[in-house]
Amino acid sequence: MKLIKPTKQYVESWSDLIKELEEAGGRGFWLIPEKSESIDEYLQTVREHEQGKNLPDFWVPATTYWLVDGDKIVGHCNIRHQLTEKLKQIGGHIGYHIRPSERRKGYGSNILELSLKKAKALGLDKVLVTCDDSNVASIKIIEKNGGLLKEKGVVDKKLVRRYWIDFA
Ligand SMILES: CC(C)(COP(=O)(O)OP(=O)(O)OC[C@H]1O[C@@H](n2cnc3c(N)ncnc32)[C@H](O)[C@@H]1OP(=O)(O)O)[C@@H](O)C(=O)NCCC(=O)NCCS
Repeated sequence: MKLIKPTKQYVESWSDLIKELEEAGGRGFWLIPEKSESIDEYLQTVREHEQGKNLPDFWVPATTYWLVDGDKIVGHCNIRHQLTEKLKQIGGHIGYHIRPSERRKGYGSNILELSLKKAKALGLDKVLVTCDDSNVASIKIIEKNGGLLKEKGVVDKKLVRRYWIDFA
């Protein structure tokens, strides 16, 4: 199992993943841009966003990785290179998502662990990770990976937990 940058090599698993997400009620996650119809467009978007090009308003440069196990994409994550005021409230440095059919197998814990290594390699010395106060799985994942709860805050009527993970 490893984190890789999105590549056409996994096109079959990518198509399968999109189908699964759509059947589960929509792509519904910002790491797969809604308007990206083909893998080529998707790859271009993630490459540009990593370089800070063609970012939507208020977005920051971010690197997307896929968590792959064998020839299957089991999840993906997005590592933001910096924070905005909004990301300090909700979103933080790292977002992650495990495809529905692969949940509860430990991949969520793995993806954050591997993402932290990538964030450190990017030069960040600590990262903010947020999740909904009701997201039991994510709370476990963050705390297992060294997250210290700094505060809770309400964003759009939802209670959000803000954790920091310090690499020092
Ligand atoms: C949150 C998410 C990443 C969890 O992924 P996962 O692969 O199922 O996580 P894991 O298998 O590593 O499980 C982590 C822990 O949460 C528990 N867990 C997983 N899903 C759970 C659920 N629905 N309810 C309660 N506990 C759950 C697991 O049993 C495990 O507990 P343990 O550490 O005591 O063994 C996945 O559900 C997801 O992608 N959700 C949508 C996106 C999201 O919420 N992202 C996180 C915020 S950025």
